[in-house]
Amino acid sequence: MIVMHDPARPAPWNGARRASGKAVLYRDLAEELDALLAGETDATANAANAAAAIYHALPRLNWAGFYFLRDETLVLGPFQGRPACVRIKPGSGVCGAAVQRRRSILVPDVEAFPGHIACDTASRSELVVPLLTDGGILGVLDLDSPDLARFDAEDQAGCEVLAAIVVRHLARSVLW
Ligand code: SME
Repeated sequence: MIVMHDPARPAPWNGARRASGKAVLYRDLAEELDALLAGETDATANAANAAAAIYHALPRLNWAGFYFLRDETLVLGPFQGRPACVRIKPGSGVCGAAVQRRRSILVPDVEAFPGHIACDTASRSELVVPLLTDGGILGVLDLDSPDLARFDAEDQAGCEVLAAIVVRHLARSVLW
C-alpha cells in the first residue's frame, strides 16, 4: 500500500484535527500543503491537489479553487465544488476586483458586494486571495461558503499563507 502521509499524523484534509482551532488548522494545512506539492512539478496536478486539500481541510465551504490569468482574463482552473463560470473579465466580480486591487477581498455577504458573480447560488460569503509573484500575479485562490460571514481576518491571513505556498510551487512548475 502506498500512503501519501504518515498515518500517525493525519493530514488536515482528513478532518482529524478540527478541534484544535483555526490557528493550528492553518499551520498544519500550510505544512502539509507544502509537502504535498513539493514532489511534483506539473502545474495542473499541483493546483488540483491544492484545491482538494483546501476544500477538504477547511469546514463550511461549497467551493474552493483557482482562476488563472490568461491574456488579462481570469480562466477557471482546478477546483472542488459545483461547475463554475469559466471566464471572468478584468475587474469583474470579487475575483476580478482582487486582481485589480492586488490584495485579498473578504466578502461577509455576497449580495452586498456590487458586481458579485454568483456561480453557485448557495454561496453566501467569499474570500478571494490573489496569487502574487515578484511584481506579477498568476490569478486568484477563491473560497466560497454557504454561510454568511464564514471568513474572518484569521482565515484571510491563513489563506494568504496557503496562496504563497501554491505560488512558490507553481513558479517551479512546468507551466501550461
Ligand atoms: N463569485 C466569484 C466568481 C467565481 S465563483 O464564486 C466560483 C466572483 O464574484 O468573482
